[in-house]
Amino acid sequence: MSLKGVFAWLQVQVPGTAEHRVQNIFQPFASPARAEYEIALFTLAITAAIFLVVGGLIVFTIVRFRRRSTDTTRQEPPQVYGSNQIEAAWTVIPILIVFVLIGVTARVVASVENASPPKSTLKLTVIGHQWWWEVVYPDYGFVTANEIHVPAASDGSTATYLTLESMDVAHSFWVPQLSGKMDLIPNRTNYMWIDPREPGVYVGNCAEYCGTQHANMLLRVIAQRPDDFNKWAAEQQKAAADNPQASEARTNFGTLACVNCHTIRGTPAVGKFGPDLTHLMSRQTLGAGVLVNTAENLRAWVDDPQRPKPGCLMPSMKLTDKELAQVVSYLQSLK
Ligand code: CUA
Repeated sequence: MSLKGVFAWLQVQVPGTAEHRVQNIFQPFASPARAEYEIALFTLAITAAIFLVVGGLIVFTIVRFRRRSTDTTRQEPPQVYGSNQIEAAWTVIPILIVFVLIGVTARVVASVENASPPKSTLKLTVIGHQWWWEVVYPDYGFVTANEIHVPAASDGSTATYLTLESMDVAHSFWVPQLSGKMDLIPNRTNYMWIDPREPGVYVGNCAEYCGTQHANMLLRVIAQRPDDFNKWAAEQQKAAADNPQASEARTNFGTLACVNCHTIRGTPAVGKFGPDLTHLMSRQTLGAGVLVNTAENLRAWVDDPQRPKPGCLMPSMKLTDKELAQVVSYLQSLK
């Protein structure tokens, strides 16, 4: 992706919502992230104090015991071997510091994991794939990809519980402003929760090396006011749009190999290997965040996904110009 592409990607903005483009752990917007932010500050304060003490002593020693022009002897200073007090001090103090850090960390981990859920919760299953995220809304009966819509409430009265699984290798779910990292591991189920306090787009990424396109396994959590979230969910529950103007394109799409990997609900396309495309046009990005979802980029992506995302598991289908135009116009009808 070119630098321009990177900027374009960064500048995608949902009207009326704040986009948190920088993945800043020092600017938390959810309870787990806040708890981790506080413990990070505490750890930084302790390590800064250690740095000042050790660095200060080194500077003091260098200055105080430097060689002066008035020194007449060339002898070494008196050598001191062994001091029980000093050795005891530099053994016991670091051990105490380590135990304090372990204790505080364990308390935060336990308090995040054992927090009781608020009245209103949303349950999601996020499944890691090379190199995209499948997002299942089991209570609503639809599946989407890479962009996770969740409700946000400033008083923490709603939270989203994520069940994390993997289809292939180990991945890691990380949206720094909402929570710490949690791995997605094959044949194992992990859990985490988030409660965004402000509507907005929170960007994240896979945080566990998972193959060639690991760096382009990007994530967006789109936190919305509960009303907006419900509206979005109701739209997603509908079967794919059946625009009469796209009927020829739709029929032709059904004859292409695309349907073996992608699902478009309400059509013969029921593949499970790639992202569900039922409401593709409701997404901001393509290819797990590598391109902004524009007509031009969609065309480039369908034409040859290996150019924007080399090594990704979607091949170029070598479509003719006419087929390509039809696929793009059909996909664009999937509002
Ligand atoms: Cu998935 Cu790194």
